[in-house]
Amino acid sequence: MNFNITTDSISEIKADLEIIIVIDKDLNHRFVQDKKLLKKAGFSGGQDEIFHLIEKNRLYVGAETLKGKGIRPAAATAIRSLIGKKAYKNIKIATYLSHPRCSASLRALAEGIVLGSYSFTAYKSKKVRSSIKNITISLEGYNEHEITAEVAARAIHNGEITANATNFTRDIVNTTPDDCYPVIMANIAEKLADNSSLKCNILKPKTLKKEKMEALLAVARASRHKPRVIHLAHKPKSPKAVITLVGKGLTYDSGGLSLKPSEFMVGMKSDKSGGSAVLGIMKAISEMNLPVEVHGFVGAVENMIGGDAYKPDDVLKAKNGKTIEIRNTDAEGRLVLADTLCYAQQEVKADYLFDFATLTGACVVGVGHYTSGVMGNNDEIKSLVNYSAKVSGELATRLDFNPYLHKTIKSEIADVCNISNTRYGGAITAGQFLSEFIDDDHKEKWAHIDIAGPAFVEHAWGENPHGASGAGVRMMLRLIEKLARGEEH
Ligand code: BES
Ligand code: ZN
Ligand code: ZN
Repeated sequence: MNFNITTDSISEIKADLEIIIVIDKDLNHRFVQDKKLLKKAGFSGGQDEIFHLIEKNRLYVGAETLKGKGIRPAAATAIRSLIGKKAYKNIKIATYLSHPRCSASLRALAEGIVLGSYSFTAYKSKKVRSSIKNITISLEGYNEHEITAEVAARAIHNGEITANATNFTRDIVNTTPDDCYPVIMANIAEKLADNSSLKCNILKPKTLKKEKMEALLAVARASRHKPRVIHLAHKPKSPKAVITLVGKGLTYDSGGLSLKPSEFMVGMKSDKSGGSAVLGIMKAISEMNLPVEVHGFVGAVENMIGGDAYKPDDVLKAKNGKTIEIRNTDAEGRLVLADTLCYAQQEVKADYLFDFATLTGACVVGVGHYTSGVMGNNDEIKSLVNYSAKVSGELATRLDFNPYLHKTIKSEIADVCNISNTRYGGAITAGQFLSEFIDDDHKEKWAHIDIAGPAFVEHAWGENPHGASGAGVRMMLRLIEKLARGEEH
């Protein structure tokens, strides 16, 4: 898909279809030339409401606001409605800005268009895809706000990179567990490095053993697919900050011997969403060539059952020497992350450390399917993540630690237990478990982002179709872009 920007007015542009966004139900706006017809059809212009006027080659879509949070899902919904319609190859659309010289809505438009054109067809014999080839954006504005072609082009370019990286992550997550296992994730990372300036190092079992990553290795043991730890690095000269990202890459989570009930096992291919997000973020960082050093680590493992599976009652020693009593083998993500976090901190002394994981069902129960939980020891870092999520169009909310919940992961026989002794507060106790593996240097620099809710979408919402959403990618890119501009939090 190509984006073109032009100063030609919208009516001068030749295209197969014009997309018109109706803002805040304003059917009296000069852009809405079919008010009577729209009213007759019962179109009121509510958020994501669409009306395709086939004869006139106009597609109307409603947005509650000119801000990104209105434009992005509206554009995605409009574009998604065209998937499989081969007649529409060239699309035109005007410029919508919420403030003078502020390109945020334009970036949101580009993101919505690219995210909305996504379809996952790998396993369909009949591939129904978007046919859109060209999007022409006229600088003719919805309102008086102006923007230069240069600023507009940059916003659209960054929006494209962001959304393409999100779609890249979606593809990995949507791939089935027998087509995407740890070695395949490592291959994806190596291929990324081959085609960019990223450096890639893959740790295989022998090295993982040498690095004393016994917790990760125990989770991996019963699978025929051997584990990998992936390290991708973007290292520009004189970076403004050093950022480490760590992702949970469970290519399948059966629960292990604490086997999941069958209805909870369906969808567990998405347990690699955190790791897949890290791969997507690294891809975008290298494409944007941001002046920050970024390291991405993925713990890629499959959690299965078998004669040599790790067990409830085992005690494992993590890389940092802490012993972990296992009481539930389905709380495996935190074990993989514990070792991967320790390895990442040993390899890189970072200014910021973020981990992404579909860590707990409790997070979904607590905050719903649409929102990620943000945890950590430092309020400013948590706020930075929250703020970046908001700008990016993702939803995130803080879940604060407390010392009382921390006590619930104490163990009688080891340093810490892999599950809590209470049914409540499971997202936080998982986060506090991870905090046991953050060293003193990184304590105040770390945030844990539980993406278990939004990572996989059952029923399409906003800019997300059914399947993987690419959660984490957009929020983290906004955050890293902010740091790359030299803005402190
Ligand atoms: N991968 C799951 C968490 C999950 C649940 C992700 C639903 C996405 C949707 C994780 O490994 C897990 O099984 N966690 C357990 C922890 C429990 C045993 C303490 C959970 O949440 O039930
Ligand atoms: Zn699990
Ligand atoms: Zn899991």
